Amino acid sequence: MDKEYLVQRAVEAMKMAYAPYSNYFVGAALLTKEGKIYTGCNIESSTYTPTNCAERTAFFKAVSEGERNFEAIAIVGGPKGDIRGFAAPCGVCRQVMAEFCDVKTFDVIIYDGKEMKSMKLEELLPLSFGMADLQK
Ligand code: THU
Repeated sequence: MDKEYLVQRAVEAMKMAYAPYSNYFVGAALLTKEGKIYTGCNIESSTYTPTNCAERTAFFKAVSEGERNFEAIAIVGGPKGDIRGFAAPCGVCRQVMAEFCDVKTFDVIIYDGKEMKSMKLEELLPLSFGMADLQK
């Protein structure tokens, strides 16, 4: 997996953000195990609640196209698209990732404009609740 390229795609996706309320732009690039990349940006709403994060936009695009096997996601964000600091995924997005990925192997890559950090989803969502818990 080319992490630099995945981050670059997230940076490009960030430019598509629709964030007139927070002015915080986020881009995500989701890599399937077959090597396909789905990008996403955050999409806000004047009523706030319907706002969709970049990560979930990428996941919903991919899942709605039939994808089920994911390897990694790269995420970048910052005010007006100026990357300042790491944009770690919110709790809701972590849960959505866990719905479709193996928390032990799925990589979450964040980039602050200088340094890249890569971690397993399990580190961001320990003791996660999932489908298996409903079948106990
Ligand atoms: N946002 C994301 O797109 N991903 C995250 O994981 C955290 C937050 C967006 C939502 C909202 O449009 C803006 O960032 C400020 O919260």
